[in-house]
Amino acid sequence: MPELVTAHREGLLCVLTLDRPDKLNALSTAVESELLDALAADEVRGSRCVVLTGAGRAFSAGADLGEISRDDPAAIAAYYRDTGDVYERFAALPQPTIAAIQGYCLGGGFELALAADFRVADETAVFGLPEVELGIVPSSGGLHRLVRIVGPARAKEAMLLRKRLDAREAHALGLVTEVVAEGAALERSLELAEGLASLPPFAVSVAKQAADLLAESSREAGVAIERLAYGMLAQTEEARTAAERFGRRER
Ligand code: COA
Repeated sequence: MPELVTAHREGLLCVLTLDRPDKLNALSTAVESELLDALAADEVRGSRCVVLTGAGRAFSAGADLGEISRDDPAAIAAYYRDTGDVYERFAALPQPTIAAIQGYCLGGGFELALAADFRVADETAVFGLPEVELGIVPSSGGLHRLVRIVGPARAKEAMLLRKRLDAREAHALGLVTEVVAEGAALERSLELAEGLASLPPFAVSVAKQAADLLAESSREAGVAIERLAYGMLAQTEEARTAAERFGRRER
């Protein structure tokens, strides 16, 4: 059986590719399962930054329409305990993640991209959440992330008023980090990933985790998280070495 998700290392980086181009990388449970396995494998675990992309003309056209479960609540609950948890697992990776997006980025595909820390889209990218048209809602963490990034009014706009957003519209809403020329999303993502991989990794990981937690916390708890994170990081050899290097550059 050909692999549906491939992982390969490029130095400190890991590139994960959804590799089901004939179905526009639709997220079947088999794809989700391979992605779960990839997240746990050494290629990802040993990397400083993960770039997620899709093979062919689309990032992903979303949940596999042939598998959407409509009539069994127990099966749906079991799904979220199993491969349906992959979106949260991807979001919870300790190292930064970038989604490199071309073509369709719909439904669960959009939700997976939203679970990345950054999104680089080429000019062909098309974002959309067709769930409501199908009588359901985005439910892989994507609706929550969308609201957190753009606020409820903009999220409703994206979900209910605009059938599709192009790359520039998504960028204007803050959903996309950068828009690049057609075919350049992966290359630009790898450039950004190189920059991230060159930063002190523990500080990067704590900064990522803190930013995600701060979005969920009160001001007081948030400030405490910042101070605790600083207190821990300031002790590290990594921070001492980085400060020395920085000092040498300043002189
Ligand atoms: N699930 C399963 N298969 C899918 C799919 C999905 N979400 N999206 C696309 N495919 C398959 C098509 O069935 C087709 O397979 P086939 O060649 O064996 O018939 C192949 O991918 C190419 O798709 P096609 O529809 O021919 O391409 P297009 O460029 O004309 O249209 C889309 C692209 C994305 C607009 C269209 O495929 C579509 O609307 N897909 C469903 C999107 C969606 O609702 N996702 C689920 C959200 S919950």
